[in-house]
Amino acid sequence: MKDFKGKVAVITGGANGIGLAIAKECAKRSIKIVIADIDGSDLKRAEKQLKAEGADVLAVEMDVMKFEDMEMLAKIALEKFHHIDLLFNNAGVVVAGPAWLLSLNDWEWIMKANVWGAIHGEKVFIPIMLKQDTECYIVNTSSVAGLLDLNGMSAYHTSKFATVGLSESTYLDLQCQTDKIKMSVFCPGFIQTDLDNCERHRPKKYANDMSQLYYQSDLYKAEEGQKHKVIKGGIPIDTIGDTIFKAIEEEKFYILTHPELNPLIGLRVKNMFEGGRPSMDVIKGVK
Ligand SMILES: NC(=O)c1ccc[n+]([C@@H]2O[C@H](COP(=O)([O-])OP(=O)(O)OC[C@H]3O[C@@H](n4cnc5c(N)ncnc54)[C@H](O)[C@@H]3O)[C@@H](O)[C@H]2O)c1
Repeated sequence: MKDFKGKVAVITGGANGIGLAIAKECAKRSIKIVIADIDGSDLKRAEKQLKAEGADVLAVEMDVMKFEDMEMLAKIALEKFHHIDLLFNNAGVVVAGPAWLLSLNDWEWIMKANVWGAIHGEKVFIPIMLKQDTECYIVNTSSVAGLLDLNGMSAYHTSKFATVGLSESTYLDLQCQTDKIKMSVFCPGFIQTDLDNCERHRPKKYANDMSQLYYQSDLYKAEEGQKHKVIKGGIPIDTIGDTIFKAIEEEKFYILTHPELNPLIGLRVKNMFEGGRPSMDVIKGVK
């Protein structure tokens, strides 16, 4: 897709971080914007900011974990703008810790937000795009954590590997049906956003019993500390919108942000061919 003027983009998680950066890039390219987010007050702030930059923007408070909210989002977006041309399934959260120590609430929250959110987006918006029969583009936000593993992030890796699988298989299925809907999967390394403070977006339904042993442990504190450190130590967000749109223009399927990590993705695959085991050495690039 190269001609963006007058197109309409729906962006989940659009009130902050990467979603807001995408929205700002949309504004620069004269794309009409629908930002959707679970955080009503951040959404209002983002809407105000985008309007001040001259954007034609609609803000919809919703929860990607709920299919009926995604349907409501599509209805409101179509009522206002009459067509949808770009979809960014971007909303996401992170929890840190080993698989067996995380609570079921942690697991359900992250899988619902990161994986089911994108499934809901695809299920609602792809039929609309197919019916329109116009040039459309979908970007699912995964992470380099969907291509490489580190310790201490089991639920996040599970959700992001699933998002890569969802994106690759959806791309192939779309190819069998139409040449009008294109897709990418965004797999960034760490970027300075507020993702490390995503606990504030955890619905009560998925609240943890913080008196449980793991949440009182030094390991939990260390994992939480590491989460803040790596995200706040990430690359600045200013170029991210441009990176994503350049990839859309070039129809690059995998959108990566940290070239220094690319050889590690190759090493991981080589390790698989050799029947190796997951290894921190592979990640450190010293195998
Ligand atoms: N920041 C990074 O280092 C990084 C790296 C790789 C991938 N990602 C991915 O990028 C995406 C965006 O994250 P970010 O870094 O911009 O974080 P962020 O916390 O700054 O923004 C995420 C937004 O998603 C919203 N959100 C959370 N749960 C939601 C729900 N159930 N329904 C609707 N909206 C919801 C939040 O309110 C927030 O506005 C996520 O999928 C994240 O996993 C981030």
